[in-house]
Amino acid sequence: SLTRHYKFDIKLKNVTRLCHTRSLITVNGKFPGPKIVAREGDRVIVKVVNHVSSNVTIHWHGIRQLQSGWFDGPAYITQCPIQTGQSFVYNFTIVGQRGTLFWHAHISWLRVTLYGPLVILPKIGVPYPFAKPYKEVPITFGEWFNADPETVIAQALQSGGGPNVSDAYTINGFPGPLYNCSANDTFKLKVKAGKTYLLRLINAALNDELFFSIANHSLTVVEVDAIYVKPFTTKTLLITPGQTTNVLLHTLSSTPSPSSLFLIAARPYATGLGTFDNTTTSALLQYQPNNLSTPQPPTNRTSTLLFKPVLPSLNDTAFASNFTSRLRSLASPQFPAVVPRSVDKKFFFTVGLGTNPCPKNQTCQGPNGTKFAASVNNVSFSLPASTSLLQAHFFGKSKGVYTTDFPANPLFPFNYTGTPPNNTFVSNGTKVVVLPFNASVELVLQDTSIQGIESHPLHLHGFNFFVVGTGFGNYNPSKDPAKFNLADPVERNTIGVPAGGWVAIRFFADNPGVWFMHCHLEVHTSWGLRMAWVVQDGLLPSQKLLPPPSDLPKC
Ligand code: C2O
Repeated sequence: SLTRHYKFDIKLKNVTRLCHTRSLITVNGKFPGPKIVAREGDRVIVKVVNHVSSNVTIHWHGIRQLQSGWFDGPAYITQCPIQTGQSFVYNFTIVGQRGTLFWHAHISWLRVTLYGPLVILPKIGVPYPFAKPYKEVPITFGEWFNADPETVIAQALQSGGGPNVSDAYTINGFPGPLYNCSANDTFKLKVKAGKTYLLRLINAALNDELFFSIANHSLTVVEVDAIYVKPFTTKTLLITPGQTTNVLLHTLSSTPSPSSLFLIAARPYATGLGTFDNTTTSALLQYQPNNLSTPQPPTNRTSTLLFKPVLPSLNDTAFASNFTSRLRSLASPQFPAVVPRSVDKKFFFTVGLGTNPCPKNQTCQGPNGTKFAASVNNVSFSLPASTSLLQAHFFGKSKGVYTTDFPANPLFPFNYTGTPPNNTFVSNGTKVVVLPFNASVELVLQDTSIQGIESHPLHLHGFNFFVVGTGFGNYNPSKDPAKFNLADPVERNTIGVPAGGWVAIRFFADNPGVWFMHCHLEVHTSWGLRMAWVVQDGLLPSQKLLPPPSDLPKC
């Protein structure tokens, strides 16, 4: 295995989309950011130097960070931010993972522009469990705001109103031809006939789950969140923020007329019809002659044939849940599904939105002038300001930083299927759950539907988990566990908790440290839909969190 060195200079760069030029915070002047490539077993070292006025941290989304939690990246959870003029070296080894992940800023809303692919190839000589693709292409979804990112962030955090709707979704940074003033800002995927391409799909968007499809082509899903799945073929797929999906694209067997263009498109899935932007981002799939020595006939622009895919409608929950249910672990001898069979620690967490009183001197846009809040078991999580949870834990200085009384069950249970009750007040706190090393954990996530008009993509840092069950309505602890799939449940790091429904996950707490769990819709995270787990050290040296690096930033 190798050591891969990267340098991330955080600096401003003018970028124009939809005829609006903005000075964006970027890595190395690139938007989206650079791709990181490594192999399973490699060490990755990234020196991040902050040249902008905002504080920054980078998170390696989905990387397990075994014993190396100091390099996980969420601000005030595992580290203090990298301040202006300062630097921090992230240094981690990729253990037992291969596939597509991504990296993104993990402070405030900076991941709106700071994100990029993280590709982990198998070890040399180890093949994919599918035929070797001809080429591999990352397809990263994001969002573009015409307003200054600072303004967008300030609005979301201060006004406490509905989500700030972006002006466009993007594919590899480009909104594509269906938006005004965007025809030239289009990603083009040039392919040859009769070949297989591996598309590495990444949803780095801030606030929207997305449907994705390519006109006249089928896609074979082979991996999610850097775990192989049983292959299945579909025209359309669903991907939530924080999720990654590898698909095989088999191109048409013979080259179509050179004037044919096939639209690659994505647009949101949301269960409610609130203030959602239901526009479509797109890219173009274009065939090239297989033999490049054959001159391509000139394209007659007026006769271009543009094929468009049919995407499910905004609120097509039936499609979403059917798609999700098709995802299964490979569960093969080479890639077994090591699902916890018995459970040491059981938790039932409600996740959802609610409201808090409006702070003094502010005008809030929630119902009756309240401020929107979001919570887990009615606790709206506050980040510490002068240290990180991991430092407080490691140095035994948790007093005044966090408390260990995060409730294992909701403080305020009710029927989650009817009209939500009026009492939507949540309390603020920095509460954690402490887990002994290697405990097997079962966590049921129940959506409360309070003000709830969309699913919550819950992301767990430091672990993959198995999705052993899901359903709509109230979770029934005496009936539902009998239906759990312990044979080949999908293994992943981000799962959509359906609006008005539940998801049951299981994992082994085999990674010592402090691990954030939150909704990957940035607006919900900001409102408090987040909490943290503290996993204690085990007895063996290989089961202990290593000491912090000497350049760990100070608050
Ligand atoms: Cu991709 Cu805590 O995030």
